[in-house]
Formats: sequence, structure tokens, C-alpha cells
Amino acid sequence: MSSFLTETNLKWRARAREVAEKVVRPLAAKYDRLQEYPWEIKEAIAEAGLMGVWIPKEYGGQGGGVIDLCLCVEELSRACGGVGVLYAVNALGTFPVLVGGTEEQKHQFLKPIAKGEKLISFGLSEKFAGSDAASLHATAVKDGDFYVLNGEKKWNTNGGAADIYTVFAVTDPSSKSRRTSAIMVEKGTPGFTIGKVEDKMGIRCVPVVEIHFDNCRVPAKNLLGGTPGLGFKHAMQTLDMARPGVAAQAMGLAQGALEYAMVYAGYREQFGAPISSFQMIQAMLADMATKTEAARNLVYVAALAVDNAAPNVSKLSAMCKLFATDTAMEVTTDAVQIFGGYGYMRDYPIEKYMRDAKITQIYEGTNQVQRMVVARSLVKESLGLKHLLDYIPKEVQKGVNDPETLKRLAEEAKQLAEETAGALDVPTHRS
Ligand code: CAA
Repeated sequence: MSSFLTETNLKWRARAREVAEKVVRPLAAKYDRLQEYPWEIKEAIAEAGLMGVWIPKEYGGQGGGVIDLCLCVEELSRACGGVGVLYAVNALGTFPVLVGGTEEQKHQFLKPIAKGEKLISFGLSEKFAGSDAASLHATAVKDGDFYVLNGEKKWNTNGGAADIYTVFAVTDPSSKSRRTSAIMVEKGTPGFTIGKVEDKMGIRCVPVVEIHFDNCRVPAKNLLGGTPGLGFKHAMQTLDMARPGVAAQAMGLAQGALEYAMVYAGYREQFGAPISSFQMIQAMLADMATKTEAARNLVYVAALAVDNAAPNVSKLSAMCKLFATDTAMEVTTDAVQIFGGYGYMRDYPIEKYMRDAKITQIYEGTNQVQRMVVARSLVKESLGLKHLLDYIPKEVQKGVNDPETLKRLAEEAKQLAEETAGALDVPTHRS
């Protein structure tokens, strides 16, 4: 699957693999146990030049695309799923700026991220606005040269560690289509505080927190794009760009778990032979590898579609997220199964893969939301398939409100009623 990757793509993949093997894998268990941000790992990632891989050169980045981001996330996640998202979430925070920021905002907010001097976070979800991302409660009210933020954000990944926060808030409660805006908030702004720090099942090295705004005054020039009301669109475009990254995290986890399972199965002997010689284990490994490879192909295709601004980006992005993350859950669970009792114990890395994989089915849009996005796309696409109408029943095309159809249905109902009544009149052997 590397055949269509360029020399540059392969260079970033190789660098990420080196950091993953030298730095991330040996430290993964430690930071999972401590549930602390691994600054030494972040430094190694930054030193390798990976922090700005997806950021254009004019804003201090490496000028790569979402495909390069995905290759790096895949490699890091193969060693630790937490580190995969710790890295990818910076892309999520910067995408709204890339999509909707002014030139000035791009220079101001992207450069320090690209250089690895600052970290960024993405604040969309709230306690009462998860999948329904349009129903935000946090507000931003214009007051002279400032926006005054009030409210809170939930599930803020990278929160506390990050210096810059891309926050979505309601700027016009009376509008349906232009209700929200994105505002860049810097750490240390009075009225902005970190709240509850979550104690998580997986991805434990990256903080997930609540963030609170209490009359937090943010310069009006930090309103993304300078025009209010574009927040929901920016959020949706951002998620289209970012979901391949979550999919790459999941696929990297699947690949990592598969590799552990392959090695374990080759050494573990039962009934006088390595368990890898048993057909049931072979079938499991074959299915795990096939699904992971299928996920990899879909992730790369979706990432390249984003980079080439393909028209079907939302659908592909949702498809790769849902397929790769469901695959990761299956593959990591099967890897634990192959390890048997050892797989269930915290002494070995494999159970962490399963814990890390679970969140990928939930964040950046649950897989139920991804199916909704895919299905909505299919409904739209079906309108372009008019040439198939000759092969579809005419009455279905006319619909139930067509007078002819209504008349025919009424006649059929009447006939059925008469037949049924007749049938009831038939004497039975008991009468
Ligand atoms: N690109 C551009 N515009 C889009 C769009 C897209 N992908 N999707 C929708 N829009 C536009 C529509 O065209 C529409 O515009 P008009 O009003 O002008 O017609 C408008 O947005 C509203 O669209 P919908 O009617 O489709 O919106 P909806 O309310 O039905 O919601 C949804 C759609 C897909 C369910 C959306 O709410 C969604 O994606 N929800 C999931 C949210 C999510 O993924 N949250 C993750 C948080 S981040 C996170 O998890 C990070 C982390 O921790 C690491």
C-alpha cells in the first residue's frame, strides 16, 4: 500500500517510526500508569520536525498534507494510542484556522504550533451538546473590541497542556444557520480556567478536561475569519479534515496489536505446538491483518481526498473513521484473546491497545454520527442516478399520493376485505 506514497510521505513516516520505536514504545506503559502528559515524548516529536507536518510552509510548517499527518499518527499509535492523539489533536485545533482564519490569524496561531513551541486544543463539545454539535450553550457577546465568553466545554483533549484553544460559542442565538463562531483563546486569559480533569479508560497520557469561561474577555480580532456566524461550517469542515487522523490512530493501534499477537502466537506453545500453527488462531490473525490492511487503504484514500479537495470528502472521511475504528476495536479485542490470560493483565502492553481503541469509536463524532453522514451523502448521490429509474417500479416513483396509485390501492384493499370476509364465512368442522 506504499506504492502511491511519495518520497516526502515516506520520509515523514520513517521519522515518525523512529520516534515511535526509540522514544514512545519504551515509555508508553509509564505514562499510561501515571496519567500524565509525556513532555519528553512531545519534545522528541517536535525535535523530529513532526509538529508542523500538515501546516503550509508560509505559516512555518513542513508543507505536508493530511496524508503525512495520517502516516505520522499511524506510526505513533502503533506504539501508543495516547501519543497518537496527543499529536493529532494539534492538527484538529489548527484546522479551523487553516479553513477559516484570516492571513493574520494564520501567521499568529499556526507558526508557534508548527515550531513545536505551543500546543493547541479544540473546544466544541459541551455537557449537553455532543453529537448535536449545533446546540451549543457557551456564549460570546461582543463588547467593543472584545468578545465576552461565558459557559463551559467538555471533553477538551490536550486541555491544560495546550497554550491556544479553538473555542466554538454562540454569537447569535436568534439565528439558526449562523448561530456560532470560533474564537481563539489563549491560556492565561482572565476568566478562562481548567475544570475537571477526567480519569480515563484509555489514551491516559493525554489530558481530557472541562474548560470554563467566566466573563472571559477575548480580543475581537481573535474571532476566526473576522466574520461571526461561520462557526458550525468551520467545525464541520474541520471534522472532515480531522477524521482521517482518528482513523489513522485506530489503524495504527490495530497494526500494533496485530504485530504483538503475531509474535506471541509464534512463541506460545500449547498441545506441543506454537498456537500460530492452529487453524483457529491462523484464521483470527488472517482476518485481523486483512481488516487492518483494508482500513489502511481507506484511510489513505480519504486523506488524499482531503488534500486534493475532492467533492466527496465528508463521506470518505466519515467512512474511514467508522471502518478503521470499528476494525481497531475488533482487532485489539482479538489480540487480547490470542494472548489469553496474559492479554488480560496489565503486566503486558496488549490490554492497553484495547482500552485505547475504544475511544476512537466515540470521539470526533461517534460511529453512529459517521453512519448518519455517510447515509445522508448516499441519499444526495441517489438523486444523480436517474438513469436507473427505468428499472424501479413505476408506482414507487409516483409515490402513494399519486391519484392512480391511491385508486388502485383502494381497490386492492376492498378486494382483500371481501376475500377475508368470505373466508370467515366458511363453516369450520366445529360449527
Ligand atoms: N462541510 C460544510 N458544511 C457542512 C458540513 C460539512 N461537512 N456538514 C454540514 N454542513 C452545513 C450544512 O450544509 C448546513 O448548512 P445550511 O444551513 O447552510 O444548509 C449546516 O451545516 C447544518 O448541517 P446539518 O443539517 O447536516 O447539521 P446537523 O445539525 O444535522 O448536524 C452532524 C450534522 C453531522 C450530526 C454534526 O452535528 C456532527 O458532525 N456531529 C458530531 C460532532 C462531533 O464530531 N464532535 C466531535 C467533537 S471533537 C472531539 O471529539 C475531539 C477530541 O476529543 C479529540
